[in-house]
Amino acid sequence: MYLSKDEERMLVGELGYAAQKAMEILVALGKIYDAERLIPIKSAHVSGVSYANVGEDGLEFLEGLASDGRVVVKTTLNPAGMDLERWQLMNVSREFAENQLRVIKVYKRMGIEVTCTCTPYLVGNEPRTGDHVAWSESSAVIYANSVIGARTNRESGISALAAAIAGRTPFYGLHVEENRQPTVEVRVPQPKEELEFACLGILVGRLVGDGIPLFKGISHAEPDELKALGAALASVGGVPMFHVEGITPEAGRYTGKITDRITITESDIMGVKEEYACEAYPDLIFLGCPHLSLAEMERIASALAGKKVKKNLWLCCSRRVKLEADRLGITQAIEAAGGTILCDTCPIVAPIRDLGVKAVATNSAKGAWYSRNLNNLCVKLMSTEECIREAHSSIPYQTESYFYYESTP
Ligand code: F3S
Repeated sequence: MYLSKDEERMLVGELGYAAQKAMEILVALGKIYDAERLIPIKSAHVSGVSYANVGEDGLEFLEGLASDGRVVVKTTLNPAGMDLERWQLMNVSREFAENQLRVIKVYKRMGIEVTCTCTPYLVGNEPRTGDHVAWSESSAVIYANSVIGARTNRESGISALAAAIAGRTPFYGLHVEENRQPTVEVRVPQPKEELEFACLGILVGRLVGDGIPLFKGISHAEPDELKALGAALASVGGVPMFHVEGITPEAGRYTGKITDRITITESDIMGVKEEYACEAYPDLIFLGCPHLSLAEMERIASALAGKKVKKNLWLCCSRRVKLEADRLGITQAIEAAGGTILCDTCPIVAPIRDLGVKAVATNSAKGAWYSRNLNNLCVKLMSTEECIREAHSSIPYQTESYFYYESTP
């Protein structure tokens, strides 16, 4: 792999410990993927923030990097294991909270913005079409590639951090125009709401693996709907990017690589919802996976207006979106109805089983998938409106045993 003089100096340690480690990681990656060189990046987004995932070994590694390492491009951070300011609301232990704050401090020392959100594109990390970036967090990666038209591979937290410190990433995969072509054409009926976009994502993600689908048949889609579609697509498989004919920026630019054609029906889409039909009483209903946009917060506030929820309702968003919601009176409306707004975190990266949660309801297909497969929870997948109705109801879905579990597929 070709390295410039500066890159060689980094690699031999002339520019410090962190730069050397970063370069070692990037060169190793480049060799694995046959990259001919490194390319400069405009921004990075780093996952691996929850102390539940980082642990003491990870923290030690990060502290080593922070001894002399600083990021050289705009770099944002994925959600942590708790709301950094109101962690008591989540009942996480003081010990966990202190350790989580240690992780945050180390990232901050490296110059990373403590955004703690999986929607960096809603909090100022907004690449332009064609920009090369190094993002981790699969839902953010797929949004950047597909909806924004920026170029990033599905980085791990470590490789995104290395790229942020070095300001570069290996030139391979989705940085190369040719690799951004769709591989599977997917004919679909127009999804009617966000949940249907999300279910479609789960379904197609399973079918195409790490292929790139080109959707045909969708005549309109809001950014939040594409957010839900992408998050679901990327959660079940390795899909790094999708195209929607007539909507996403690179759809129609190329069609030479399509090898498969799939047709999806409405009942296929709704079949996914039926797979997540937990009948246990939900300890928690959560919305905001990926983190809610201001428009979504606004819609939820209107749906909650004048009512009082009877079950735990968590709404997860970035602190930036919450500040906007505060300013517009949205926060007050949600909290008056008994909803809890949490920033910096989500029920997937938080130590949710330690909090005694066993059954959840959500409108997020990604959230449903991880709640079941990672956190081993009983999950009900519902539309936003159904979730809110459920939060208002004092009656469980059906009176089954509280300790009912679905089997993991
Ligand atoms: Fe974001 Fe957590 Fe979902 S990081 S995409 S809210 S799993």
